[in-house]
Amino acid sequence: MTDSGDFDAAWLPPAAFRAVGGRRSLVRAAAGPLVDTVYGELADACERFGGRVVRDGAAEEPELVLELTGDDPGDEGFALERRDGTTTVTASGARGLLYGLFHVVRLGEDAFHGERARETHRPALATRMLDHWDNVAVHPVMGQVERGYAGGSLFWADGRARGDLDRVRAYGRLLAACGINAVAVNNVNVHETEAHLLTDRIGEVAAIADALRPYGVRTHLSVTFAAPMVLGSLPTADPLDGAVRGWWAEATRRVYEEIGDFGGYVVKADSEGQPGPFAYGRSHADGANMLAAALEPYGGTVHWRAFVYDHHQDWRDRRTDRARAAYDHFTPLDGEFAANAVLQVKHGPMDFQVREPVSPLIGAVPDTRLAVELQVTQEYTGQQRHVCWLGPMWSEALRFRPDGEVSTGRLADGLVAVSNAGDDPFWTGHPLAQANLYTFGRLAWDPAADPRAVLGEWIALTHPGAEERLVAGLHAVLDGSWSTYEKYTAPLGVGFMVQPGHHYGPSVDGYEYSPWGTYHFADRDGVGVDRSTATGTGYAGQYAKPWSEVYESPETCPDELLLFFHHVPYGHVLHSGRTVIQHIYDTHFEGVEEVEEARRVWAGLADLVEPARHARVAERFEEQLRSAREWRDQVNSYFLRKSGVPDGRGRTIY
Ligand code: GCU
Repeated sequence: MTDSGDFDAAWLPPAAFRAVGGRRSLVRAAAGPLVDTVYGELADACERFGGRVVRDGAAEEPELVLELTGDDPGDEGFALERRDGTTTVTASGARGLLYGLFHVVRLGEDAFHGERARETHRPALATRMLDHWDNVAVHPVMGQVERGYAGGSLFWADGRARGDLDRVRAYGRLLAACGINAVAVNNVNVHETEAHLLTDRIGEVAAIADALRPYGVRTHLSVTFAAPMVLGSLPTADPLDGAVRGWWAEATRRVYEEIGDFGGYVVKADSEGQPGPFAYGRSHADGANMLAAALEPYGGTVHWRAFVYDHHQDWRDRRTDRARAAYDHFTPLDGEFAANAVLQVKHGPMDFQVREPVSPLIGAVPDTRLAVELQVTQEYTGQQRHVCWLGPMWSEALRFRPDGEVSTGRLADGLVAVSNAGDDPFWTGHPLAQANLYTFGRLAWDPAADPRAVLGEWIALTHPGAEERLVAGLHAVLDGSWSTYEKYTAPLGVGFMVQPGHHYGPSVDGYEYSPWGTYHFADRDGVGVDRSTATGTGYAGQYAKPWSEVYESPETCPDELLLFFHHVPYGHVLHSGRTVIQHIYDTHFEGVEEVEEARRVWAGLADLVEPARHARVAERFEEQLRSAREWRDQVNSYFLRKSGVPDGRGRTIY
């Protein structure tokens, strides 16, 4: 917990500043909101650890210099070097200075020894953003935070913006320390109350923006496409209608009057019941460009989500394939989106499952600005009751190039994720889920970073001076936790098998006869979805070579995605040498054993972890184990009953 005792310090406990705070530092920059933040951070650290913030020209040489060399707010990079006993961070923009300071904090004592040749650091992606699916008014089904597993909203309580924004400031600080520079403060499903944030309630958004600004975090807003009708009483929301365009231009002008550095809009249109341009026979480019035009004079951006599919599908209809939808809708529009419109694409073609291929839409729209969307909140990966560190999954996705051999190397212009933070004292419900938030930020800064090294950073910051047994224990618990989760849940990329609605816990046929387009097609002979071009839905053909060929055949398709792409008999032999049915049994037993082992490791760390934190994780492990056993037994029993094939190792299946 922090000194105030209200909430956990996460990856910025006071002790993380020991090396910086024990030294003489100098800030060479004119005052301004971000420079003041840098100065304040140093002053606090020095007060605690005995260092001093000195003035230019003081008798004693500073050991750390942070110098602003320009006035470029768009430049987030910084340079670091160490010569003659002085570590120097230079940046041409104040954000860079702040990121440089946090970099020095990460380096700790290493930043102050020996010589260091000049190295430059710059984020690979300009937009590093978190979407909060937070409702202002508690939603009767989804609650305060849709898919939130960390208590209430950080921003909203009792039907309005929180009056006390200390926690929001602390959040901005944590985000800056891992490189995140943008936040959307409300749910993409914009309900009635939340629609008003755009107009008569913009002052509440402005207050949040004020709290985040000192940490270089810009505020964005989710808006409803129907706003001109809902808020402006126009008879239409047609994006080509002059009055509608005028309404958006005026509404946006007023937003910028309140929030001069407002980031822009996030829009979920024609998706799961949200209004959109289809109602007027217009395209999604028409819709996005209308908003882009309204934002353009002020430098704002519209993030237009590509999560568009038919959620009223007839399960009897085998031709419609939800996985195809984003690509089918958006590739014909490539080149039509405005320069300040960003197409926001979920990393997989379905919906944040534990295993999906990378969406073929990424890489298929070279003339469209693109942001990849991840989900830090663990909707389908244990809902922050299970430990599931997603770093390896994201890293794999970010390194993949769906455009194959012709790849120009660009994956995206931005990385966005659904946040997992709430007003829980530990921020994320499961204290170890903080690692997911930190890892997201660092991968957005550098998608090529080694996720395990990022996890190492998180461990070192969160537990300054941790002894080796704790570091090793945390790695043991977290490193393989995604793979463990995958083992005891839906097998081989087939996805879902969750309880409908809340999506927690197993229900193998929970979505099998539903309108949502998420099926596994298990029968007595086999399981999986045929998405080949030859005999299936043709989804595999949406990829460029070599992936279209790799995925087309069960012989070349990677094991972990086999059931995503193919319907195969239970006796089909995987590259691993095991049959599909034996793989299902084995991994489900293994997954539970791995949870038991992680729980045992965690119990052994009790003397090294703060008691409240240790207890919270220990309690979650009990639930994870209960749930993992439930998954194992339901999945194994289901497939034993369907297939009639016994477990080759004769273990108990019900
Ligand atoms: C998932 C999730 C919804 C969310 C949607 C989205 O389907 O279950 O709660 O609204 O994704 O990304 O818009």
